[in-house]
Amino acid sequence: MRRLQNLLFTFCIALRCVTSAVGVIHMTGYVGSAVKVSCSYDEGYESYEKYLCKNDCGSDDVLITTSKSWKMKYMIHDDKKDRIFTTTISDLHSEDDGKYWCGVTRTGSDIYTEVKLKVVKDHCCDTVTKILSYQGYSVSISCPSEPQYQNSLKYICRGNRPSTCLQQALITSYNKENGRFRLDDDKMLKKFTVNITSLRQDDSGSYLCGVQRNFDLDVFSAVELKVEEFCCVKSTKINGTVGHPLTLQCPYPSQHRDNRKFLCKGDQHNSCTEMLMNQSRFTLQNASSDTFVVMISKLEVADAGTYWCGSDSQWRVGNYTKIQLSVFPQSTLGKKNPALYVIPPVLLLICILVLVYKYRRSRIEEAVLSLRRNASRKKEVIDAAQSKIYKNQGVVTSNDQSTSNVYEEVDVEVHYENVTASE
Ligand SMILES: *[C@@H]1O[C@H](CO)[C@@H](O)[C@H](O)[C@H]1NC(C)=O
Ligand SMILES: *[C@@H]1O[C@H](CO)[C@@H](O)[C@H](O)[C@H]1NC(C)=O
Ligand SMILES: *[C@@H]1O[C@H](CO)[C@@H](O)[C@H](O)[C@H]1NC(C)=O
Ligand SMILES: *[C@@H]1O[C@H](CO)[C@@H](O)[C@H](O)[C@H]1NC(C)=O
Ligand SMILES: *[C@@H]1O[C@H](CO)[C@@H](O)[C@H](O)[C@H]1NC(C)=O
Repeated sequence: MRRLQNLLFTFCIALRCVTSAVGVIHMTGYVGSAVKVSCSYDEGYESYEKYLCKNDCGSDDVLITTSKSWKMKYMIHDDKKDRIFTTTISDLHSEDDGKYWCGVTRTGSDIYTEVKLKVVKDHCCDTVTKILSYQGYSVSISCPSEPQYQNSLKYICRGNRPSTCLQQALITSYNKENGRFRLDDDKMLKKFTVNITSLRQDDSGSYLCGVQRNFDLDVFSAVELKVEEFCCVKSTKINGTVGHPLTLQCPYPSQHRDNRKFLCKGDQHNSCTEMLMNQSRFTLQNASSDTFVVMISKLEVADAGTYWCGSDSQWRVGNYTKIQLSVFPQSTLGKKNPALYVIPPVLLLICILVLVYKYRRSRIEEAVLSLRRNASRKKEVIDAAQSKIYKNQGVVTSNDQSTSNVYEEVDVEVHYENVTASE
């Protein structure tokens, strides 16, 4: 690559010098870099002094002469064999932009060749193409080119400094494949394409597409690539307890109602294990129009981990939920909430008190009732209705007691409520 560049440069110098015999030499350089101004001269002037001057070439305008070949940021070299003398101007600044003259000192009037130097900023470009992709995916960067450059060298580099882009190229059209990078030169479509596979987050940043030009600065276009972590519509964290059931909720777009729902376990979405197909403890429950639910029947310690769920037949960015499940052993929960062990005895006590109170009250009521037996018919009707209500309550209570332990607390509360309500 270097060799080729040197070759091209020599060729370029030669051509420039040919042009210079006819007219003005046009040169362009980047701020901060160096430029070589080469001028040829006719046979017979080999031993004459050569120089470079600026503007009107007055005595103060002479920058460097071959009698002192190095001065400040200027360097001059006279190639007497090829009859070309070259001045290198290093560390270009915008003030260096302007008109120069190559001169050959002789008695009478000197021989001049005009040079126009343009200094441009080493930064590209005003328009930047933005590309967003995701970790692990591949991206295709489309770089513009023109038909007249169809045989030119194409390349891409990181950053946005044109002056160093070719030296630091990631890949060129001479070396089309390099690791995760591939360059395809599509001559018909006025573009070349750079494909980067297995994207990483550190691939994010600026890139320059370059097209080499032989007689001028290369043409560049800028790309800003952003590689985001692969994720999801939603990311949730959930805690569960060993031995207990747990439900995982997964939202999905309603238009996916008939799609296959999936729940997949693994640190990476692209290498996770489908859980709904194979695991009997995982069941898909009937879903609402925008969320489906997976029930895990008896949580195990090994169920902890990262889950991905969705409703798209293909993995597509932004269409799944990431769930991070932590599973805690049962004892941890007990230790953390000693209140749970204190509450049942207290409730039991209340329960007993309530029952005793109720029993006594009903005995009193019975006594009152018997005393009122002799009262009017109207009163009897009311009393009958009242006792009916108490009977009904009795039925409800016995039903509740026949259900599982889980409901015991609720049962107690029912009694308690009845008491407060009747007071
Ligand atoms: C990049 O190249 C790979 C491998 O040839 C291909 O599978 C992928 O589709 C390409 N990516 C793009 C965005 O063109
Ligand atoms: C899960 O447990 C951790 C550790 O005990 C706690 O910090 C976190 O807040 C819990 N998260 C939820 C959603 O309960
Ligand atoms: C289901 O489980 C069997 C045995 O554990 C395993 O060989 C198979 O690969 C699993 N299938 C899927 C889709 O995970
Ligand atoms: C979901 O509901 C439909 C009817 O509404 C029923 O046919 C289907 O069996 C239910 N599926 C599950 C997993 O409960
Ligand atoms: C999910 O995918 C569908 C198409 O498959 C798309 O219309 C929708 O916008 C996606 N949802 C999100 C949140 O990206």
